[in-house]
Amino acid sequence: MTPEQLGEDPTVATLSGVQRHEWLAKLHANHLPVDEDVHDVPMYEVSLGGIMGINDSERWVTIGTPIWVSLSLFDRGTLVWRVRKKDTLDLKVLKNVWYGGARASAPEAHRLIEGKHPGVACCDGFNVLFPGTASPISTNLLRGNLDPSPSKNRTLYRLLYPPGRSLFEACSELELIRGMRAALRGHEFLCSQSILHRDIGVDNILLSCDDELREGAEGFLIDLELAIYTGPTIEYRTLAPIRLPTGRVLNDVQVKHLHWTTSVANRGAPVTGTLQFMAAELLASLDDSLRSTGRPVQYVPVEHQTHHDIESFIWVLLYSLIRRVIVTSRQNLSAEEETWMQSLKMEFKHYYGQRAPDGILAQRSNDRPWKVVVDYPPFFSDAIRELIGQLSDHLEYKRTNPLSHTAVLDVLDIAIRRLSQSE
Ligand SMILES: Nc1ncnc2c1ncn2[C@@H]1O[C@H](COP(=O)(O)OP(=O)(O)OP(=O)(O)O)[C@@H](O)[C@H]1O
Ligand SMILES: [Mg+2]
Repeated sequence: MTPEQLGEDPTVATLSGVQRHEWLAKLHANHLPVDEDVHDVPMYEVSLGGIMGINDSERWVTIGTPIWVSLSLFDRGTLVWRVRKKDTLDLKVLKNVWYGGARASAPEAHRLIEGKHPGVACCDGFNVLFPGTASPISTNLLRGNLDPSPSKNRTLYRLLYPPGRSLFEACSELELIRGMRAALRGHEFLCSQSILHRDIGVDNILLSCDDELREGAEGFLIDLELAIYTGPTIEYRTLAPIRLPTGRVLNDVQVKHLHWTTSVANRGAPVTGTLQFMAAELLASLDDSLRSTGRPVQYVPVEHQTHHDIESFIWVLLYSLIRRVIVTSRQNLSAEEETWMQSLKMEFKHYYGQRAPDGILAQRSNDRPWKVVVDYPPFFSDAIRELIGQLSDHLEYKRTNPLSHTAVLDVLDIAIRRLSQSE
């Protein structure tokens, strides 16, 4: 078997000792950090394959070890690296992903977006090709199985994003809330184009790494793998020549057709997202589906809607506020603060260590996670405690008043004003 058939990616090469030395010298000469590379970690040069001079121009060098390795055995095999572009030295995040069937979900979702928004990460997606050819790298071709049926095939893609940081690494509460607001505005922008993200979780909202930040660009959304388009399907058709009453004949008339379809998503599960941050109604529906086997009444799943994603933003905010306190805690806490911290860590484990939908729902039902912020005054500012109080009110009345972008953005704005004044 060839190295490729054994799983070696022909578009990736390990830097030799000399190449590595030259690369590090180049970084050094350009005043870029070299200590970010752990010394005995291999460095890889990654290309997009294809024919030299046509599509083989992009080259990237990896930094350190991957920042994310997907744990799911039979899914997209996601691998995420920080990389620098070989010629320009631009820092990016590169996602290696194997898409099944004919769909490359995130690149497709990004293609649907009209215009740009700072709250949604720009994503360049590329098919990876066998070097020297125009054939995409796919499991079918690697295995010498030329069965063209797309259902069993997986195709390799590389997606490039701007680098971000976790919400809970924010240097201040203000930075965290600004990042959340930017991402929520990004979400509103997507919804205005009938694109629903459906996987709002702490890993999919990032803080910007840019040193000079514009207002509104402090955070962004990533990972549109589960996004769906809920608007009409747009189809352009060229009509046969038309004769007008005046006798004039019009050729090549293009018409735009809008079709509404209910089966917008073909992704299997109707409920998507990360359990810890999922809206209560979706968790309940999921719980129902888990218990429904053998029941005489058929289970009807709840449709994932905009207000569910907005609710997830609130759960992400609460989680990130608490985790930030734990992650960024100082070394020299007083004895009293240390006791508070140990107790906070226990509560955090308790609330976010639940794995099943019913366990997560039970933890939320008694208001305890909200009270964590209220009950630990040394760790959270007044502005944040007030914000949390307002958001929990919004959640309480969501049945009669479904959560809206405006309502949540308004309370975030107030908190940002208060936090800015006290800085
Ligand atoms: N631009 C970025 N900056 C920093 N970290 C990133 C960036 N993009 C992705 N990551 C990290 O990689 C993780 C995985 O990326 P992403 O969310 O796009 O993949 P995924 O589709 O959730 O993976 P899976 O296939 O396992 O479901 C993110 O949760 C985040 O921790
Ligand atoms: Mg993700």
